[in-house]
Amino acid sequence: MLYQEKHRPQLHFTPKENWMNDPNGLVYYEGEYHLFYQYNPHGNDHANMNWGHATSTDLYHWEEHGVALAPDELGTIFSGSAVVDKNNTSGLFESNSGGLVAIFTHDGASQQQSIAYSEDKGRTWIKYEGNPVLPNTEIKDFRDPKVSWHEESKQWVMVLACGDHIQFYGSPNLIDWTYLSSFGKEYPSYIGVWECPDLLYLPVENNSKKEWILIVSINADGPNGGSAVYYFTGTFDGKEFHPNETPQDELKWADAGKDFYAAVSWDNTEDTYWVGWMNNWQYAGVVPVSPWRSAMSLARKLSLFEKDGSLLLKQEAITADNSREEVSYKDETVHPGKPESYEISDTAQVDLQVSTASASTKWSVQLVTDQDEAFRLELDYKEDAYTFYRTDGLVDFSADYPKEIKGSLHGMDVQNLKVIIDRSSAEVFLNDGLTVSTNLIYPEGTVTKLEISTVNETLQLDTVTWTKLHSIWK
Ligand code: FRU
Repeated sequence: MLYQEKHRPQLHFTPKENWMNDPNGLVYYEGEYHLFYQYNPHGNDHANMNWGHATSTDLYHWEEHGVALAPDELGTIFSGSAVVDKNNTSGLFESNSGGLVAIFTHDGASQQQSIAYSEDKGRTWIKYEGNPVLPNTEIKDFRDPKVSWHEESKQWVMVLACGDHIQFYGSPNLIDWTYLSSFGKEYPSYIGVWECPDLLYLPVENNSKKEWILIVSINADGPNGGSAVYYFTGTFDGKEFHPNETPQDELKWADAGKDFYAAVSWDNTEDTYWVGWMNNWQYAGVVPVSPWRSAMSLARKLSLFEKDGSLLLKQEAITADNSREEVSYKDETVHPGKPESYEISDTAQVDLQVSTASASTKWSVQLVTDQDEAFRLELDYKEDAYTFYRTDGLVDFSADYPKEIKGSLHGMDVQNLKVIIDRSSAEVFLNDGLTVSTNLIYPEGTVTKLEISTVNETLQLDTVTWTKLHSIWK
């Protein structure tokens, strides 16, 4: 049955069939969150890029609508964004209340930016006859336009990935674009390219300000190899972005896991939400699933958090399951060498509130299947690090699929931990989402158990809660 295949995500969006990569055209409009995505309607590999389309009213349950934008004489349709042209600045709409405009890369003889508009809530699109609106014959990598309205300078601002740097463009009408500035060339050089940028203005949770943050996806050179997303915080004045971080500073990874890429935000929302492609270009083409390939991460609400003078990205997963069933255990004590075990389901959220864990403790949370496979997150305070082990299940489909995924705890004690488990992924959020690690897993069996263990010293937990999450497809 469709959506019941082995490893088919039950809590995450996947197309019914065929290949999907980056989220595109994320926009909220008239009661619907739109999720367009890089899509091959003809196969399970990265080819023939179209935009697929799905909508949601809660960022969790999705309805798939099929192809929204198909290739034409200018090329295939690469990544991009969508905005609500409320005041019909483009003049493309009959009505003054405007409609949706998509801004995307045409990948043909070169990469150029084009637009299309929709007068029926994104169901059908008309490509602008003057495409491309931002022509290019010089720069090889020139793509993934992310556009938003910049109120202070009263213009549309486009952030564009250009190989080893970002370019900013401004426009009064989404059609005529003027170069504003470049950013990033002086930052450490990477073997890969910059892709899918985003510019966000986020609230800082603990000091009531708002600050700018520039998101960049890089492929390759992620913290665990391959593709990953990182960010700079700073200022944006409608022309230039000035980062707080210097080229010598440690990079800030949005998600230090192996499988979170090309994340961008929804336009036209009050709070800021984003979603990433839950895969890695190193092995995306061979992950052992069909007839679809790749899932999106859960949508996440974003904010900033100030710690020791530095701004950190914070991510809160959205799981809008109204019939969730929660089981909670209070004041749990875990003794060294005596794991505590809890029966859970294979689509679940696990929440731990930690009371005391001594600085020398190494403790772990492990998901165990009915075939005795284990997927373990180990927290090592002495090393200031965590490791996610995906040694079990299907692992041999790619030499680049690491069995151990490491990350730093950045000197923070883990006060709370959330893991969201689906049939082929585990998303880990530490300290309310200040540290995140998203990783694919391919168990042969079904996750049935949660085990918590500690190595040297007693671990005291205020609460251990697990929540059964129901399939979004029922
Ligand atoms: C990122 C990316 C984008 C490009 C798209 C093509 O994953 O390489 O830069 O637009 O995928 O599918």
